[in-house]
Amino acid sequence: MEYDVKDLNLADAGKKRIEWAERNMPVLRAIRKRFEEEKPLNGVRIAGCLHVTTETANLMRTLKAGGAEVRLAASNPLSTQDNVAAALVKHYGISVFSITGEDNETYYRHLASLLDMKPQITMDDGADLVATYHKKNYDFDVLGGTEETTTGVIRLKAMADNKALKYPIIAVNDALTKHLFDNRYGTGQSTLDGIIRATNILFAGINVVVAGYGWCSRGIATKARGMGSNVIVTEVDPVKALEAVMDGFRVMKMEKAAAIGDVFITSTGDINVIDKIHLDKMKDNAIVCNSGHFDVEINKNYLKDKAKKSYTARDFVETYIMEDGRRINLLADGRLINLSAAEGHPSMVMDMSFANQSLSAEYIWNNYKKLEKKVYVIPTAIDVNIAKLKLKTLGIEIDELTEEQRKYLSSWEIGT
Ligand code: NAI
Repeated sequence: MEYDVKDLNLADAGKKRIEWAERNMPVLRAIRKRFEEEKPLNGVRIAGCLHVTTETANLMRTLKAGGAEVRLAASNPLSTQDNVAAALVKHYGISVFSITGEDNETYYRHLASLLDMKPQITMDDGADLVATYHKKNYDFDVLGGTEETTTGVIRLKAMADNKALKYPIIAVNDALTKHLFDNRYGTGQSTLDGIIRATNILFAGINVVVAGYGWCSRGIATKARGMGSNVIVTEVDPVKALEAVMDGFRVMKMEKAAAIGDVFITSTGDINVIDKIHLDKMKDNAIVCNSGHFDVEINKNYLKDKAKKSYTARDFVETYIMEDGRRINLLADGRLINLSAAEGHPSMVMDMSFANQSLSAEYIWNNYKKLEKKVYVIPTAIDVNIAKLKLKTLGIEIDELTEEQRKYLSSWEIGT
């Protein structure tokens, strides 16, 4: 079996962590059990370019239980948990190509190793694997792929619009049981977790500026408020901005917020959301970090060029001393803070995201002949099924429409 991980001696520690995560992933466990019995992915080659975490390990185990041959590489050079990668190779017989902190060349060499298996299905988190496949003329066709995150879906939709997309994609991110929970509650909690682990700051009583009021950013804003921060939201979308206002947040331009904030968190998918003019206005000792997919949201090159000095104050904290003596602390070099300094989303929420991934892989395998080269929203039946399963595992029962209610409601739908 081919693989490239840091150290196989870490495998036992990784296995314990994977099993710990599994305890909080009941929906995925139920899918794995069915997959073990039915083998719906028998012989299918699946390549995953995802964060190499304990939760992803459980997704890989599920796909393998369904009969698939799987390979995994990181979708971000900083998020790999080396003991998890080692455990997947040693204890679960899964080929992993990923080492935390790998350089750009290694990162793409690892993606090439995924494509060496001639995958029939790809799973992406940020669309780097799809993009790598599209850059060369490979001698095999991919039947379909899945995409885990907002930024990846945006990239793939642009490729589809330009008629450049070579195979169909299921936008797992767009499932309600994904972004309403993973992006909001998962990113919300784990972003603060990453900041706390990196800095040990107290959130109570400080000014936290959150850029964006989308699914991730509203989660971050809400959790920061829950911890006692005075939260300021910046937005470019008038409706989202209004929502933030009505939810009780202060909303203003980043230019104004820059002078007030103690901690700045971006999660927009956009470029230079914190730019030169903002960095120039920040208070001494401001903390700046990002939870959006790419490390483009903070103009870190400006910090690097303009600072007279910089030093690593703690793991994941680089302090830049500006000409005027102000210190600006950039966390995790502007990369996803929750996956760099913390462990990413808690298993309980990844349970649903990866249930969506597993069922989407099964859906692609069963339906690829009918699918066109475009980005599909996940079928509603899968979404509803996952919500039902999750409620069941939480021991929560809900009402069902009676026949009378169903008739009443559908009569309104047809306008009678
Ligand atoms: P979204 O589309 O729901 O929200 C993005 C928001 O940012 C929008 O409301 C948009 O109007 C706003 N925005 C865009 N440019 C802005 C600017 N210059 N200033 C202020 N606001 C601006 O997207 P979602 O799902 O919240 O994802 C955001 C990013 O986070 C994406 O890059 C996504 O891939 C990533 N992501 C990260 C995760 C993590 O674990 N850290 C998990 C899931 C998604």
